Amino acid sequence: MSGKITINGQLIDFTDEKNILAVARNAGIDIPTLCYHPELSVVGACRLCVVEIERMGVQASCSTAPIDGMVVFTNSGRVNRVRKMVLELLLANHDRECTTCDASGACKLQKYANDYGIKRLRFPSRSQCEALDNSSLSIVRDPNKCILCGLCVRICKEKQGVGVWDFKNRGSRTEIVAAMDQPLAESACINCGQCIAVCPCGALSSNSTAIDEVWAALRDPKKTVVCQIAPAPRAALGEEFGLGSVDVTAKLVAGLRKVGFDKVFDTVFTADMTTIEESNEFLGRVTEGKNLPLFTSCCPGWVKYAEQFHPELLNNVSTCRSPQQMFGSVLKKKYTQDLGIKAEDMFVVSIMPCTAKKYEAKRPEFMTDGVYDVDAVLTTVEAARLFREAGIIFDSLEDSAFDQPMEQATGSGVIFGATGGVMESVIRYVAGKLLNAQGRVDVEFTRGMMIQRLPAYRLMILTKPGCC
Ligand code: SF4
Ligand code: SF4
Ligand code: SF4
Ligand code: FES
Repeated sequence: MSGKITINGQLIDFTDEKNILAVARNAGIDIPTLCYHPELSVVGACRLCVVEIERMGVQASCSTAPIDGMVVFTNSGRVNRVRKMVLELLLANHDRECTTCDASGACKLQKYANDYGIKRLRFPSRSQCEALDNSSLSIVRDPNKCILCGLCVRICKEKQGVGVWDFKNRGSRTEIVAAMDQPLAESACINCGQCIAVCPCGALSSNSTAIDEVWAALRDPKKTVVCQIAPAPRAALGEEFGLGSVDVTAKLVAGLRKVGFDKVFDTVFTADMTTIEESNEFLGRVTEGKNLPLFTSCCPGWVKYAEQFHPELLNNVSTCRSPQQMFGSVLKKKYTQDLGIKAEDMFVVSIMPCTAKKYEAKRPEFMTDGVYDVDAVLTTVEAARLFREAGIIFDSLEDSAFDQPMEQATGSGVIFGATGGVMESVIRYVAGKLLNAQGRVDVEFTRGMMIQRLPAYRLMILTKPGCC
């Protein structure tokens, strides 16, 4: 359906936009939202996105379709009064300890409260002191900060196909709980962190206990503390420090040395090893005609998903370790020998883009003689916190190179950080080997695709989001 609507006196064309919110945003008019996500179903729960429509009154713009000839006001006095009241009611039922909140600075509720000048609440605050759920290695849930927007419920169910979160009770007793009201660690959660990404406030956050463990190791004179960095955080850290989407690898290496790491390595080294291993495994399976198609095992979220929901596919999952775990194993089993130290005297830290890597590092199969191959995993945001706590001014750091050995790596390993990158690396390697190609083999159709089917080699790889 197409037509024209008037928003704040401006005549605007619409074509296939599903709601007034999308029409307004496409025209450069912002409307605040807390429970809306363009890729999820619309529930109209928070009412912050209200607009005034002639002859229809105040309506939620996310759940109202545009109709040709509509006249809409997004910032009338009535609209702003309703939005302020919505915010005040949410804040009255909220633990407003911004100074100790992980989301502070990136919180939509905090931002909108500032934008709408909420200085005092007209409604009495409800004292809340519900216990945190910090049972998960990857995610912490703080019910005192939940505004019941339901985005976590929808992303987990509609996009991830897992369905961990749901609403419990009704009315003022409503809360979000993991399935069967059990601790998150005991649920089917695959630790992907997507619910954290969509949560508009500090109710869901990454489990950051690893930061203290890293500091303890750095201050322990008996420990050799080694860091590996995945491809994806390199640009993300630049954004975190306000440098834009630039590759800050060399500064990152320099900063980690300043923080106190004894050695800093590039996970791309073992991404290359993964490519070689997975490619040879694939070629072996093609020769034997067994266990095809082959699925990558690099993503611990995907591996747990397959274990829980598709055990019939487990023979199709590669037997290779992920680059993170390969590096941990190389460091603890081989590099300790080179240095003449015991595995328990080395502390291996990974900087990874995904919360599932925290869970992967603590899987029992990645422990040798009671020692984990990877001891602590920091997300990009946590690595930035480490730098801030150490008082490092990131953009003033001199460039520095990775330690040797293991600093040699290819571009194929780097693209593990992009969606479809693992598949592209494997296809490049396999094609190069089958065609006996000299030099670089370019494959241009894999990145960003969800599923590729290549009948010639009976290869189907589910492309996972960029990680390592
Ligand atoms: S969730 Fe937002 S508003 Fe609430 S305490 Fe955290 S930063 Fe402040
Ligand atoms: S981390 Fe992923 S699987 Fe776990 S609850 Fe959140 S969205 Fe669902
Ligand atoms: S935990 Fe976050 S995403 Fe989930 S309902 Fe509460 S505020 Fe919304
Ligand atoms: S964003 Fe529209 S009701 Fe919440």
